[in-house]
Amino acid sequence: MENLISLVNRLQKACTALGDHGEDSALPTLWDALPSIAVVGGQSSGKSSVLESIVGKDFLPRGSGIVTRRPLVLQLNRIDEGREYAEFGHLPRKRFTDFAAVRKEIADETDRETGRTKQISSVPIYLSISSPYVVNLTLIDLPGLTKVAVEGQPDSIVMDIENMVRAFIEKPNCIILAISPANQDLATSDAIKISREVDPKGERTFGVLTKIDLMDKGTDAVDMLEGKAYKLQFPWIGVVNRSQADINKNVDMIAARRREREYFSSTPEYKHLAHRMGSEHLGKVLSKHLEAVIKSRIPGLQSLINKTIIELETELSRLGKPIATDAGGKLYMIMEICRAFDGIFKEHLDGVRPGGDKV
Ligand code: GDP
Ligand code: NA
Ligand code: MG
Repeated sequence: MENLISLVNRLQKACTALGDHGEDSALPTLWDALPSIAVVGGQSSGKSSVLESIVGKDFLPRGSGIVTRRPLVLQLNRIDEGREYAEFGHLPRKRFTDFAAVRKEIADETDRETGRTKQISSVPIYLSISSPYVVNLTLIDLPGLTKVAVEGQPDSIVMDIENMVRAFIEKPNCIILAISPANQDLATSDAIKISREVDPKGERTFGVLTKIDLMDKGTDAVDMLEGKAYKLQFPWIGVVNRSQADINKNVDMIAARRREREYFSSTPEYKHLAHRMGSEHLGKVLSKHLEAVIKSRIPGLQSLINKTIIELETELSRLGKPIATDAGGKLYMIMEICRAFDGIFKEHLDGVRPGGDKV
């Protein structure tokens, strides 16, 4: 049986491929109904680093200042075997196996939309990574929240970024990965501030604490990690990403993960928490949670998908026999995926209460 998350990934991809063809149909609604995970936090809080650790690959532009200037929708697909590869929504027929080239393409595609300036754009970049080493997940990297515009940016940028982030995370189906650096006061965390606004009870927010290794000597993150500084429904997860010096020295991801594990298990303060710390643990927790959310949404998703199938059938009969590459072909592709969904839903439905969560 195909994994639920990878099916959702395919459906999201297909909705995207359809582009503006879908605007007057149920498809945009369907896209919004599909759960995903958005990464939010202040500039340089470690958002891109956390994403890379979850993926276990270097592929994101990273560093100081505003590097992420467009949303990046990242779909992770676990494949059973073979070489890992990446594909972009805007380059459908090209497979990347060199992840340095992936990073360059993200930067170039950002510039294509925004110009070579420090402007931002809310038009997402779609990237999928297929690998035997990832868990099935859809993650959205967002521009970092900031307090002041820098030279070359309009003053409106502070609010523009905030509004863009809010537009993603206010959707009830969005799971929020709120990134706060441990070497700053949680009370001043941009991630906590904005996630509290849209999810006051912390029911769909996962708190991630970065830069634990950079805390002042004599202080530790235990209160924060135990949820005593700020309570969320889910346990806080601490990570230690690579420092800028590590990146400059090309410390690879495998070594970084090993060091992260050692850090938590060998630091006396964190020993008792070590089993629920680190990027690997974070990836597993998120994948499990995403799958559970999708399952709980099955009844609502199913009726939406049935509606979409009927709509697509009408549209297709109007267009006549579809040809694989044109708009009709894309509609046909989505309908096929919807049908696959319908089949899987029926298998899963036994385990779901009738009248369970609505979309
Ligand atoms: P973003 O702007 O939120 O996406 O942050 P980045 O992931 O680009 O990280 C900003 C800088 O902080 C980079 O130089 C990272 O190497 C560094 N960094 C991120 N997380 C950690 C961490 O846990 N420990 C250390 N020492 N440095 C980190
Ligand atoms: Na940055
Ligand atoms: Mg970033």
